[in-house]
Amino acid sequence: MIAPVSRLRIEKVVHGGAGLGREEGRVWLVPYTAPGDLVEARPVREHATYVEGTCEEVVEPGPDRVEPRCPWFGRCGGCHLQHLSREAQVQARRGILLESLRRFGRVEGLDPEVVAGDDWGYRGRMEFHVGAGRLGFFERGSHDLVPVEDCPIAVPEIRRLIPDLGRAVAEAGVSGPANLEVVVGADAAVVVVGDGPPGWFPPTLPERLTALRGVSGILLHTRGRYWLPMGRPTVGWDVPGPQGRDVRLDLDPRGFSQANVGLNPRLIETVMRLAAPRPGEQVLELYAGAGNFTFPLLAAGAPEIRVTAIEASRTALAALEQAGAEAGATPGGLTTIAGKTETVVRKLLDGRRRYDLVLADPPRGGIAEAARHLPRFGPTRIVLVSCEPATLARDTATLVAAGYRPDALVLVDMFPQTAHVEAVLRLVADPDRGTP
Ligand SMILES: C[S@@+](CC[C@H](N)C(=O)[O-])C[C@H]1O[C@@H](n2cnc3c(N)ncnc32)[C@H](O)[C@@H]1O
Repeated sequence: MIAPVSRLRIEKVVHGGAGLGREEGRVWLVPYTAPGDLVEARPVREHATYVEGTCEEVVEPGPDRVEPRCPWFGRCGGCHLQHLSREAQVQARRGILLESLRRFGRVEGLDPEVVAGDDWGYRGRMEFHVGAGRLGFFERGSHDLVPVEDCPIAVPEIRRLIPDLGRAVAEAGVSGPANLEVVVGADAAVVVVGDGPPGWFPPTLPERLTALRGVSGILLHTRGRYWLPMGRPTVGWDVPGPQGRDVRLDLDPRGFSQANVGLNPRLIETVMRLAAPRPGEQVLELYAGAGNFTFPLLAAGAPEIRVTAIEASRTALAALEQAGAEAGATPGGLTTIAGKTETVVRKLLDGRRRYDLVLADPPRGGIAEAARHLPRFGPTRIVLVSCEPATLARDTATLVAAGYRPDALVLVDMFPQTAHVEAVLRLVADPDRGTP
């Protein structure tokens, strides 16, 4: 029996991108709805505290509803908010950030500044999936393939490549399941990284891919065996460095790089503005990657600043060290430590190290347990860069309990058309609380 529809007025967009409405006090979450919409929704799943619904009809559109630009929007799981105006989207991501800080960290009273860039054509890394010889993205919440021929949030280098990539996959007879990730550098290098079960790629695929217009290198994984590189399989990335010169990072595309290539310089600027590194300071940088913030820190506090950069990926750290050597980062100015934050932080504490500033840019899971230890380094400021508001809230709450006070928050709008939120939050040692 098909469940009857319910009529709901959508109040706001919540974490994950769904619209929230209520029926007789019961909360409903309905994807692809907009604040102010009157919708008819059908229940899909009942949870303890809410009903997950699907929108059957928009009876009365809310004031911020717009026509989505992409023909695959609503089926492809990549974007959540193309049906909202630019202003309403920023408002939604701001709301998600503040609501998460309040609910999961009891952090209130912050008014985030917003740093934004292009709404379209910004994404410089995209993971496509291959199934039955076709290239596409996964449907929302499933592994069903939605074949696509374009993606308007991708940078032009990727958009141009999608039809050719689709043809190469079909003609080479890649049956899948496999993943093809396209990574573009700030230097416009384009690398295709492919992965799948043993024997996933037919012998003709590597040459077909390297012959594609615009592709500068490939890396294909023969699962559990080795990587096949062809062409130039790295992407270049420029960040501000000492003596007013940019430092060129040579990134392995299998590791992390910021997805929004165009807004990364503004992200760096924001992090440096909040961190305000000064000459002579000791800085602890956690989750340093290949040095996206390390060199700007060294530049901002030149020449006497000391930065200790911790990173778990040896490949990323090797790129950081090589760039440091080429940039002539002052001996003693930069110390790198390979290892997991959780472990390295404990060792540094055993060595009774002190730092003036801590900067952390963790993956979605946040800094977790390390948050409890950071105050013992005695920093006057701790700056957290986060792509997951819920863990940012949890980590902030831990630091607040240890005597720090959040005093600045910036939403760096790295993921337009989606419900993903990137934020930079600064905490300062609270003199009234007496930092440990
Ligand atoms: C969000 S990225 C940030 C990298 C860099 N700050 C940037 O802007 O490019 C997170 C980084 O943390 C590293 N990482 C993940 N888990 C880690 C851990 N437990 N300890 C240290 N580094 C870790 C990843 O390899 C990745 O380089």
